[in-house]
Amino acid sequence: MTDKALNTSRSDAVFSAAQALMPGGVSSPVRAFRSVGGQPIVFDRVKGPYAWDLDDNRYIDYVGTWGPAICGHAHPEVISALHDALEKGTSFGAPCELENQLAEMVIKAVPSVEMVRFVNSGTEACMAVLRLMRAFTGRDKVIKFEGCYHGHADMFLVKAGSGVATLGLPDSPGVPRSTTANTLTAPYNDLEAVKELFAENPDAISGVILEPVVGNAGFITPEPGFLEGLRELTKENGALLVFDEVMTGFRISYGGAQERFGVIPDLTTMGKVIGGGLPVGAYGGKAEIMSMVAPAGPMYQAGTLSGNPLAMTAGIKTLELLGQEGTYDRLEATTSRLLAGIVEAATESGFSITGSSISAMFGFYLCEGPVRNFEEAKAADTELFGKLHRGMLERGVYLAPSAFEAGFTSLAHSDADIDATVKAFKDCFNSLS
Ligand SMILES: Cc1ncc(COP(=O)(O)O)c(C=O)c1O
Repeated sequence: MTDKALNTSRSDAVFSAAQALMPGGVSSPVRAFRSVGGQPIVFDRVKGPYAWDLDDNRYIDYVGTWGPAICGHAHPEVISALHDALEKGTSFGAPCELENQLAEMVIKAVPSVEMVRFVNSGTEACMAVLRLMRAFTGRDKVIKFEGCYHGHADMFLVKAGSGVATLGLPDSPGVPRSTTANTLTAPYNDLEAVKELFAENPDAISGVILEPVVGNAGFITPEPGFLEGLRELTKENGALLVFDEVMTGFRISYGGAQERFGVIPDLTTMGKVIGGGLPVGAYGGKAEIMSMVAPAGPMYQAGTLSGNPLAMTAGIKTLELLGQEGTYDRLEATTSRLLAGIVEAATESGFSITGSSISAMFGFYLCEGPVRNFEEAKAADTELFGKLHRGMLERGVYLAPSAFEAGFTSLAHSDADIDATVKAFKDCFNSLS
């Protein structure tokens, strides 16, 4: 511990009690800090760019509830709209006008989306889109990329083996081998591997799904020509191209990565930002494909709380805020200044680092670059990252508790917050050198 050691006695007590109540003491695994070590911080409240723990320590937050908080936590306009919506009830289970409103906003913004279905999480959106890919093409196999996360549905929980491309093996007990046998994997940024998979599985592959910018293996950007190549390959082979924009949607730009890179998939999944901090996911795409979804078509998918009025309200207000002039220029400027500061801080202290950012998303690896796929990302010094993570907590900065998660900025992060964060990085790297 440094002289900056935190008092986390209340956090520690609550997390200890949680061990007996919930597996690992958490509702989602990465929150338990297993990959960085030490006890997790138990949050009490969030506002703007900040989070406070139960011991009243304040952190500048770069997790932003894993993506949704792009306008800053608890934005006053979102909260006020939610108060008004709350008066009308918490759930309808019937059509409501707010669904039309959010659907229109999503369709207008996201180039590939002509029709949309709302669900309750990113996992649900990806699970449904996979069923739709199969229903529409009449084919069972799917290609995904090593290091891309599409939620925890069985067929996506696949570890890529060594070699150029391999058949999927289940990543978790409980996932049947028969399910993942239809999941083919390739290294990210490797068009040749995808070409080979199509050649080896003629007329059997329903489509290719990917994070157009990877945020679940750190932060990996598509090399020039990669997304375009996938677009061509899928077309040539009668397969669908699906962008999982659960993380990048309304974050990389208002129209997502597809707008930013100018490559238009057939289907898109979304989540996080479009719920403004409430549980929402969505999938959408060409009307011809979406018309397969029940009750318009035969592909079944449903949800008790789908299109929930509170979630729709938070999403609508968040997209309204993001739609204002200059939003994404500001996010880009904030994030690139932060990333430059982090790289400078590490380099000054003699550590290897490579990193990049786009709009409100960034990442760095504590190793020499470049990092073009998950295999290369594994060169990162995870032990050093663990120490950095703890040191930054002690200095009032909350980073994602894994060396392989992207960081998020928001409209609420001011220049002063970035300066304070960079100063903390400098101090922390210095103490580790
Ligand atoms: C790209 C991507 N897809 C899907 C998901 C799953 O979303 P959820 O956690 O809302 O189920 C995530 C979650 O982090 C994600 O980043």
